[in-house]
Amino acid sequence: MTFNPLEEKGLPLEKQLRNWHQIVAKPYKKQEVDCYTRTRQILMNGIEVEGWGFKHQFNRFMSDIDCDDRANISRIGRIENQQQMTCNWLCPADQSVLETTLGYEQVAVDLTAWLAQNEPDEYVKETFDFGLLEDFDHLYRYAQFAYMTEGVEPNDIVKNQTDVIVGRPTQHHHNCNALRLRKHYDKNTTSPQTKVNILTVLSGEQQTHNFYAEHGFMYGDHVLRETYAEIKDVEEEHVTMYESLIDPTESMFEKALLHEFTEVCNYYTCVEDETCEDIKKYWEIFLDMEIGHLKLVAEMFKKYEKRDPEEVIGNEIIIPCRFKSQKTYVQKVLEKEVQKRLAPNGEYYNSMDEIPSDWASYKIQEKAAEISAPSENCINLVEYYHDRDIVEASENLKNKQVTLLEQGLQKKSVANNTVSPDKLQEMIDKHEEREKQKEKII
Ligand SMILES: [Fe+2]
Ligand SMILES: [Fe+2]
Ligand SMILES: [Fe+2]
Ligand SMILES: [Fe+2]
Repeated sequence: MTFNPLEEKGLPLEKQLRNWHQIVAKPYKKQEVDCYTRTRQILMNGIEVEGWGFKHQFNRFMSDIDCDDRANISRIGRIENQQQMTCNWLCPADQSVLETTLGYEQVAVDLTAWLAQNEPDEYVKETFDFGLLEDFDHLYRYAQFAYMTEGVEPNDIVKNQTDVIVGRPTQHHHNCNALRLRKHYDKNTTSPQTKVNILTVLSGEQQTHNFYAEHGFMYGDHVLRETYAEIKDVEEEHVTMYESLIDPTESMFEKALLHEFTEVCNYYTCVEDETCEDIKKYWEIFLDMEIGHLKLVAEMFKKYEKRDPEEVIGNEIIIPCRFKSQKTYVQKVLEKEVQKRLAPNGEYYNSMDEIPSDWASYKIQEKAAEISAPSENCINLVEYYHDRDIVEASENLKNKQVTLLEQGLQKKSVANNTVSPDKLQEMIDKHEEREKQKEKII
């Protein structure tokens, strides 16, 4: 039996307002929480931020709409705002910004990997795989600072579910804006699943950008502050990339339907997967609220566009955020696509040899790293703390790290402080030597 949210009752909008005690939930314990409860909490905050912001855009842009309907859009926006507070503030006060950051990048890696494997459109899947390898590298860079600044090991947060090792090097993620723009889907022929998948990852990436913008300054270490600035800029590119996949001719009512449907699908998945009973209660009630939002917006869609909402969202639920370990899939993409780069007109260069010497992104990268790349400095720094970089992966993958770096590094526009494959090998050898020395107590 499939679940068709348009046929469910949902919670009527007039029953959705909550008091402050209900809005501010009891946070989880960072030492005890399942890493995928944390990723759900982080993602749903991003989904709610997008849902809230969209209601404001809707009322700013729409002129021919009845006062009652405008008021209802505004009321729904207020509920999204209350849900956002609950989701975001499940995060405990003693979880540091860097720990939460590792959680954000774990969301990006494992969510994007799930979406890529459940994406019917080949071109959109290719875009997900491309973005995946960039967030994978962010996780590795931040893991160095979590260790150096707070003594946090990656598995304190990612709990052995996600590998932490070099990906496509962050210094090469900075691109000419024109190249980041992808080809958009056709709203009339694309499946609801593709539309929900894109809006889900887009919401996550946008909130990741916002989190770095609002928290990167909270550390005194200048290299860390610069690294947040560098990676925040990549998240800005990820927002550009994913939003460009959306058909710009979708009407605001179509977009409103897709937003509510995306919320329904994500909460539905959270309810199915949640292991923490206290938090599951919120996913259940929020699912009911979102069905209420969807039904209201579906009525408006019928009234103003004289069309059946099922033409846009179909008649069954989609699973957009099933969090589970994606190590095998990510390693496969990493080994195959670490060299990939953006080409004009939404295409890709599949290897370094295909990139022309006048590639538009070279100029951006040269300007950004004209003094040095902070994302490389963090690996230079960690040598002093640990002899080599902090890595968590199978022996098999660890043994490929130097080769992966060699394949991922460009030959042109490389920052002058780059850790070369030879240097990385030297660090690895030094670390092994030190570990042997440590075994002898005297
Ligand atoms: Fe919501
Ligand atoms: Fe990222
Ligand atoms: Fe990202
Ligand atoms: Fe909603």
